[in-house]
Amino acid sequence: MPELRVIEVAREMREASRELARAGRSVGFVPTLGALHEGHLSLVRRARAENDAVVASIYVNPTQFGEGEDFERYPRSLEKDLDLLRGEDADIAFCPANAEMYPPNHSTFVEVGYLSNKLCGLSRPGHFRGVATVCAKLFHLVRPTRAYFGRKDAQQALLLRRMVRDLLLDLEIVVCPIVREADGLAISSRNANLSPEERAQATCLSCALEAAREALAAGETDAMQLIEIMAQRVISEPAAELDYAAIVDPEDLEDVREVDRECLAALAVWFGSTRLIDNATLGRAEKG
Ligand code: PAJ
Repeated sequence: MPELRVIEVAREMREASRELARAGRSVGFVPTLGALHEGHLSLVRRARAENDAVVASIYVNPTQFGEGEDFERYPRSLEKDLDLLRGEDADIAFCPANAEMYPPNHSTFVEVGYLSNKLCGLSRPGHFRGVATVCAKLFHLVRPTRAYFGRKDAQQALLLRRMVRDLLLDLEIVVCPIVREADGLAISSRNANLSPEERAQATCLSCALEAAREALAAGETDAMQLIEIMAQRVISEPAAELDYAAIVDPEDLEDVREVDRECLAALAVWFGSTRLIDNATLGRAEKG
């Protein structure tokens, strides 16, 4: 098995990508904030299966964290992450320092427009600008054939697909299913911040989505009613505070009135200072 190559310098990453391109090898890229878990690893496996080379980035990107958000306490576990990537037979781990990604007086940002100002964008102003900016930079350095993202962050995946289309970037965005714990909680690095009580109650997100599915299957198609069902399920847990519950068009994230076609049900819930998100497709047979 070839060694995992760990690259910390942007220039070196660019050189490595050039070499891969010269060798005619397809590149699957998995951008992450680190603290890797099964959700991330599912993306690495998919990238491994579909490409000649696999690059993962581990970088806690400061520009996507707002003031007072959890940038400082975001979990960091580089050595363990590198071992996990070795276990998945990844080729390159790109782990840049801030100075590599944001040179002094950095002042250029990518704005994806109205998609950024909905759902999570409302409670995290500037978040998607930071995500789009860092992904644009990473895409330039890594030059992936395909970049892999989780449906867990459905708005992020949608927005990056839009960025790739609008900026005429030459890569494919592949969106992969949500990986869950046995009790339905979507796996997230932030789950580790929950107290045992909060962790037990955090199943309310997936339960709320399931309740909306069941109500839809039973004939309720009114979006407001379905949102109310989700909201009630969330606030039935004493530690949960609802940030938003929404049912939107999966392409433009506009609110819908009636679930008479495929829609996206999305939730964000606070447990103390930890914010969890989850989503599901409504109006379609399979789970997602
Ligand atoms: P991060 O939260 O580390 O997630 C990296 C990728 O893993 C994202 O595409 C996310 O959707 C996916 N992911 C996380 N949990 C998952 C789960 N339970 N099932 C499936 N996929 C899951 O998202 C980011 O980092 C950053 O915003 C980033 C894109 C790296 C830009 O900084």
